[in-house]
Amino acid sequence: MNYVERFEKLGFGLFVHFGIYSAIGKGEWHLSTLFDEKKREAYCAQAKKFRVHKDWAKKLVKTAKTAGCKYITLTTRHHDGFSLYDTCGLNDFDAPHSACGRDLIREFVDACNAEGILPIFYHTLLDWTHEDYQNNFPAYIDYLVQSIEVLCKNYGKIGGFWFDGMWDKWDEDWQESRIYSTIRKYQPEAMIINNTGLHELGKVGHPEIDSVTFERGAPCFVDNSDRHRAGEMCQILNDHWGYAKDDCNYKSTKEILENLIDCRKYNCNFLLNTGLTGNGTVNPMDECMLKEVGKWVKMNKNIIYGVKACDITAEGADILKGDDGYYYAIVKNVEMALDENVQRVMDSKSVKVNARVTSARWLDTGEKIEVKRGAFNVKPFSYGRSLAVRVAKLKIKE
Ligand code: GLC
Repeated sequence: MNYVERFEKLGFGLFVHFGIYSAIGKGEWHLSTLFDEKKREAYCAQAKKFRVHKDWAKKLVKTAKTAGCKYITLTTRHHDGFSLYDTCGLNDFDAPHSACGRDLIREFVDACNAEGILPIFYHTLLDWTHEDYQNNFPAYIDYLVQSIEVLCKNYGKIGGFWFDGMWDKWDEDWQESRIYSTIRKYQPEAMIINNTGLHELGKVGHPEIDSVTFERGAPCFVDNSDRHRAGEMCQILNDHWGYAKDDCNYKSTKEILENLIDCRKYNCNFLLNTGLTGNGTVNPMDECMLKEVGKWVKMNKNIIYGVKACDITAEGADILKGDDGYYYAIVKNVEMALDENVQRVMDSKSVKVNARVTSARWLDTGEKIEVKRGAFNVKPFSYGRSLAVRVAKLKIKE
């Protein structure tokens, strides 16, 4: 199994946006809304107030594990140009020169390694504060490559790079081959990902790309005609990637679970985001949602890690094949039933698998399912539980 296949088996990751914008609480694009020079300076001066509590990384890793995530993709530098890592003299706009005075990426990587979580580095390509970005693009690329070199050399083996922002200047010469060969030189097994944004979902921008991206939706099978590539869909819990204190537009857990399933149906990973607050804590609402997702993931882990799409089809369900030799039928929109005066009673639902099913069980309860010629009824959840999606584990005679 190569590193791309290993990445695919991880299935579910936590995306983390964290930077000096986190303390302002108006999203990671806040700087782009400030046109007055004084306000922009005040934004950058936030670094002097950037205090991060000492266990932030350990706690973050714990949150990720509880949610069932196997990797974390963290913003080592976002569009505002502030780095959470020690840039080793490239500039002073980094965490060691901020009020916290520490290399936060070191803490992040150590916390991940201690718990068997794969650390992946999000890194911006565009830069709103570096002078060369507007005035001397080749010099900016030198700076970018040096930054990537720092990240490749100083933190041991890492899981990969997740680039973002090329869409800001499509026509510029980003010297992509140079960027990627720098990574291959120091980290031959690092995943190389470059977000193609909302308008180019699933596009392979360069031959070195190891995983294509589906930002906020519509995953599909990845074009593997020249070599094997993974796919990954990133999603937000509400409307912002970076923490926004006035954002209550949260998705439902059901919606998030359906996103996760849609990803697995196409062999894509799901990268679910949380924006940390200014001192590095996961905000309570996100923490709760991730915990709820984690409960479901734990019950149904067989369809998250080590599964693949397969040729077997079914009416009323999506079918995946597990590495364990079993098949899994995923049924969405399962309701609970008791009495019409307390709960809508689900219309009777059934599944018909186009294969010889010899036995079946619900993953969440372990209960046996009666199957006749590949068909079975979907039992609603009993009163007291409502998990939105049910998964049946199937033995199929091939
Ligand atoms: C977009 C946004 C960026 C965010 C990213 C996450 O590219 O510009 O702020 O980090 O999506 O996928």
